[in-house]
Amino acid sequence: MKNPFKYGEVVTGEHFFNREREKAELIQAITSTMNVFLYAPRRYGKTSLVLEVLREVEKKRIICIYLDLLRAPNKRKFLEIYAREIAKSITTTIDETITFCKRAFSRFVPKITLKADKIPEIEFEISWRRETEEVASEEVIELPQKIAKQKKKRIVVVFDEFPEIANYNGKEFEGQLRSFIQRHKDVCYIFTGSKRRLLLKMIGDPTRPLYKSGKIMPLGKIPQKEFEAFVEQKFRLGNINISRENLKFIFDITKNHPYYTQMLCWELWESCFSKREILREDIEQTLQIVLDHQGEYFITLWNNFSPHQRLLLLALAQGSSANVFSKDFIKRFGLGTASSVQKSLRRLIELEIVDKVNDIYEISDVFFEHWLKERVV
Ligand SMILES: Nc1ncnc2c1ncn2[C@@H]1O[C@H](COP(=O)(O)OP(=O)(O)OP(=O)(O)O)[C@@H](O)[C@H]1O
Ligand SMILES: [Mg+2]
Repeated sequence: MKNPFKYGEVVTGEHFFNREREKAELIQAITSTMNVFLYAPRRYGKTSLVLEVLREVEKKRIICIYLDLLRAPNKRKFLEIYAREIAKSITTTIDETITFCKRAFSRFVPKITLKADKIPEIEFEISWRRETEEVASEEVIELPQKIAKQKKKRIVVVFDEFPEIANYNGKEFEGQLRSFIQRHKDVCYIFTGSKRRLLLKMIGDPTRPLYKSGKIMPLGKIPQKEFEAFVEQKFRLGNINISRENLKFIFDITKNHPYYTQMLCWELWESCFSKREILREDIEQTLQIVLDHQGEYFITLWNNFSPHQRLLLLALAQGSSANVFSKDFIKRFGLGTASSVQKSLRRLIELEIVDKVNDIYEISDVFFEHWLKERVV
């Protein structure tokens, strides 16, 4: 039987679990064309959730456009990908695509190639003519609303990992987006981000162009009880026994984090499938295997931190639910002053090594936290 756990990529279908409330909230926002800013720490399931939602709203004849901005390091690349995704989402045959591109992108030269795999695939390359980026970008950004009007359909555009646009030309591009987006009455924009501070600043700072341009939706963890039941059921399908207590032990280790839970369970399935049982020592051993596998990566990571950042990480690993600015905490771990804690914390958050979850600072990678506790302290 195939390992039913999955991590490291988007999950869909039988691998996607729960999130009913969040799905309903997003669908409601899309159908009422209310823009949404969805944020969650790394690997909580943002992409899986929005793609799942897109699959559902597509059935309601809503046109879906999805962009992963991690693939667009600059504005030019963003425009190329955006143009391509728009074209892909509304055409199905090559003839249609060519006609559409000719009509829609006067300032682009579309190049269409057929991939001779088993299933032929259309690919675009959009190269620039002499016109400036500004004119071209207006054309692309305006397009979803134009299409919505022409086709008398609603459109949803997802900009996944939206804070990446801060790397383009800052507020100017945000301003340009805003000026279009606010006139797009038939298009719902969903912006996602794991850099919570950056995303909230974009929408919560009155001096920023996107100030209050949508509703904020934080994505938390999947409720633990339900996630436990999901995991238990998967093990049961493989006739693998696990006690309630040991199931809880898995979640103690992973802190109910979706990605790390799936990862540990994947490993447990592999190591315990033949003996059909998971005992506490299996879980402990499997954790050690995971830490061994990641050891080199953790050492490289560790070597890049300043001495103070390391001290703070060790302190967080040992006393994560404490108030990190309190005198006791600073004294106990020899952290100097509250302002130096603040500085190191800011950097670690920027690097996505630490997250602030429910007002508590946490090391985002739970296995890195175990590694620190077990192999460094
Ligand atoms: N609803 C879910 N059901 C089951 N597993 C999930 C769910 N959401 C997330 N996961 C687990 O978390 C992993 C990460 O999911 P996903 O890539 O969607 O998160 P993300 O927040 O977009 O991550 P990133 O910050 O890397 O972009 C998945 O591979 C899966 O193991
Ligand atoms: Mg993602």
